[in-house]
Amino acid sequence: MSGESLAIGATDKAARYDELMPQLRALLDGEPDLIANLANTAAALRECITAASWIGFYVMRGGELVLGPFQGKVACVRIALGRGVCGTAAAERRTLVVPDVDRFPGHIACDAGSRSEIVVPIVVGGRVVAVLDVDSYEPAAFDDADAAGLAPVCDLLATLSW
Ligand code: SME
Repeated sequence: MSGESLAIGATDKAARYDELMPQLRALLDGEPDLIANLANTAAALRECITAASWIGFYVMRGGELVLGPFQGKVACVRIALGRGVCGTAAAERRTLVVPDVDRFPGHIACDAGSRSEIVVPIVVGGRVVAVLDVDSYEPAAFDDADAAGLAPVCDLLATLSW
């Protein structure tokens, strides 16, 4: 698979994630390079998540989160553990769905247009190695269906060599 769009035709969110998964597995299959795999995952997610304005990874480096492969506007490079939505999700090792970023204490506004956000940690052997961050210009763009749909994506990414 190269230079082609993914085949994702459903309108229902959960169904779109279901359509994504086998294609994402095929995309990563046999490729050992972490950066290449994160970059292609960000691109694949961009096709899957219609409401997204920004999709990307922050990777744990020396105790802080550092910007990794992404799709969207230029973004903040370093986020301390416990800061912002990303740093909080990483510190608490849990998925955070934020319907209104203005109501999240300490939200880091990389893009002033961002209204809602979901952050899913990638956990390997009990340790957070990275977070997947998805932002939207729409309020309350993300919900349990996104959390449920992104969990297998992050489980798959946890099998890469970090
Ligand atoms: N809003 C995030 C920062 C990352 S950018 O949205 C790409 C946060 O509060 O952690």
